[in-house]
Amino acid sequence: MMLEEYIRSLLPSDEASVVSACAEVSLKIWEEMPRRKAVLSTTNPYGEKQAELDVLSDNLFRKRILETGEAAEVVSEESPPTHSKGKVHVAMDPLDGSSNIDTNNPVGSIFCLFTERLPCPAKYISSAFYFTYGPMLTLTLSSGKQVCRFVVSKREGGYIFTLAEESLKIKEEGEIYSFGAQRREWIEPVLRYVEKLEDRGMKLRYCGTFVGDFNQILKYGGIFGYPATKSKPRGKLRVIYEVLPISFIARAASGYSSNGKNDILSLEPSSLEETTPIYVGSKALVKELESTISREYT
Ligand code: F6P
Repeated sequence: MMLEEYIRSLLPSDEASVVSACAEVSLKIWEEMPRRKAVLSTTNPYGEKQAELDVLSDNLFRKRILETGEAAEVVSEESPPTHSKGKVHVAMDPLDGSSNIDTNNPVGSIFCLFTERLPCPAKYISSAFYFTYGPMLTLTLSSGKQVCRFVVSKREGGYIFTLAEESLKIKEEGEIYSFGAQRREWIEPVLRYVEKLEDRGMKLRYCGTFVGDFNQILKYGGIFGYPATKSKPRGKLRVIYEVLPISFIARAASGYSSNGKNDILSLEPSSLEETTPIYVGSKALVKELESTISREYT
């Protein structure tokens, strides 16, 4: 089935228009990737150096989302918020994993649609989706009930998104673990838990792009973590732009996501900048790690 028809049957029409607009833009970004590899001298609102593709993606997505007339606001990791007259509150990480652009490892774009002004609690998420660029361009989407995936292919007349999987599920256990930051920086319970996973024969797979790393957990089961570290007890990944949308998708795929103590989807972020440790993937594994951390780390 084609994207347009499917999302209109799944989502309210204003949200479907936003998804559709973003899908159009993702094709443009994919096309531009080979010639947009520069690192700029500009920084984003968090003081991080921007890649040319960060800025391009931010501009293109924002412009097209606002053109739909359906957005109430667009908040982005790369630029200050923009407000408008629609009803959909859009949070985006327009280019996740930009350090992977020049190596042709996966990068992505992450979106979360809310019904309330941001920042707001996770209970106001209405849908979430992400694109992965490379090797395939894919769109993974959830309205909270199930998770579907579209894959782009070339047909006469251009590129099209076709439905590849209708109900993705994260296995109860799993094969892979994928943890960011330096091992010697991890808090003790995480370090010991990962050693336990290694003893069980699980395999390390880490690419350094959140959506790329989550994507493999969605497929094979296992656990992804960007942990609390000794120098960054509040983790690295951003709640609004990265952690909530992926946690929403994980839950719809029967997975679970925790900050080490609580369900991520019970968080009530008070600022757009908030970061959190995240452990997401197969429910049994994340719960096991959560109880290890709660027992041993305060
Ligand atoms: O937040 C941006 C990001 O690139 C994520 O996509 C990824 O999970 C993480 O940072 C990688 O961080 P590190 O380079 O510390 O492994």
